[in-house]
Amino acid sequence: MPNSHPKIKVGVLGATGTVGQRFIQLLATHPYFVIHALGASSRSAGQEYAQVTKWKLATPIPVFVRRMIVQECKPDAEGFSECGVVFSGLDHDVAGDIEFAFRAAELIVFSNAKNYRRDPVVPLMVPLVNPHHLPVVRHQQTTLSPPTKKGYIVTNANCSTTGVVVPLAALEKAFGPLETVMVTTLQAISGAGYPGVSSLDIMDNVVPYIGSEEEKIEWETSKILGGVNDDGKGFDHHAHAPLKISANCNRVPVIDGHTACVSVKFRRETPPSLEDIRKAFADYTCEAQTLGVPSAPPQAIVVHDAPDRPQPRLDRDLHNGACVSVGRIRPCGVLDVKFVCLVDNVRLGAATSSIMNAEIAVERGYIV
Ligand SMILES: NC(=O)c1ccc[n+]([C@@H]2O[C@H](COP(=O)([O-])OP(=O)(O)OC[C@H]3O[C@@H](n4cnc5c(N)ncnc54)[C@H](OP(=O)(O)O)[C@@H]3O)[C@@H](O)[C@H]2O)c1
Repeated sequence: MPNSHPKIKVGVLGATGTVGQRFIQLLATHPYFVIHALGASSRSAGQEYAQVTKWKLATPIPVFVRRMIVQECKPDAEGFSECGVVFSGLDHDVAGDIEFAFRAAELIVFSNAKNYRRDPVVPLMVPLVNPHHLPVVRHQQTTLSPPTKKGYIVTNANCSTTGVVVPLAALEKAFGPLETVMVTTLQAISGAGYPGVSSLDIMDNVVPYIGSEEEKIEWETSKILGGVNDDGKGFDHHAHAPLKISANCNRVPVIDGHTACVSVKFRRETPPSLEDIRKAFADYTCEAQTLGVPSAPPQAIVVHDAPDRPQPRLDRDLHNGACVSVGRIRPCGVLDVKFVCLVDNVRLGAATSSIMNAEIAVERGYIV
């Protein structure tokens, strides 16, 4: 994007929440976007951002945001009507109607909520994997009611799906389609938003249930790894080689960073060597990197060779939380290979993905 191009005014929906705070931190100094409007519930609306937000990040609230007045999440609320784009960190129970209204008002919505991920004309886009899904928004503009000229919705994936699908994409790119994937996650408390699971439930404990999380990993992975239909009007969900995926999800007493233990079987007869698999992870590059968008990490996947890595506390901050860490690549006695991966659930798992998706949309002419 040329330096002379004026910055695009953006709004943040759910600005007071866990994902919303990351949006604000990451957008405060962004080269393409400038924060122009903040939205949250009626509990926060009408008050200064710093007054109503339980800020949980280690860096202070950006000075120009502190005194901004939080609005209700309505497209005609002050500030939003001048925005071209909104980033949504809204709870799913309100995201559907609100994001719909912003799209209908001709804003471009980058959402973290689950509501539109399964919509047949809405891209479910992990920026390190499938930006080639983005052109389907043109079909969305004509077929999803109401038709729009500028507005559309792009969602990013569930946070644990994002951490798993990046290494799976690297394996498919190097060795062809996968047949079976088994995933067991160890997910951070921040994944449930603030205040999340009570300390009495999570300290000294593991909770082997996260509502609808397993279904999200199992369903979303095929949409993301699949292609766009020949007519450009939808997604093929990896139909040429259906993926069998099973996920077990656990909440663990970690603040940020979802870990996943993954076992994989390839479709090809002879599985690749561990050395080739390690190389496929380390060499994986994606369109966000070739486009050179500001949030793209220098390495999409960081491979760790120490036997006890990746670890959330040590590795979640690599490349500003915009990459996936992979380690413990080893033979699997049941499937072909197993490994451990780690993603920062609030950055690449949420806010960073939305922002990188928007950067890609700018570079490809989908935001003007
Ligand atoms: N946390 C993660 O790691 C993560 C990762 C990926 C995706 N996500 C998804 O991102 C979304 C936000 O998650 P979060 O963890 O940031 O949740 P959160 O901390 O609970 O924040 C929720 C936000 O939604 C706002 N909100 C609640 N009710 C509202 C209403 N009726 N109208 C307008 N705004 C309302 C809240 O505003 P008030 O402060 O005014 O209540 C707050 O800003 C969810 O859909 C979640 O599934 C989260």
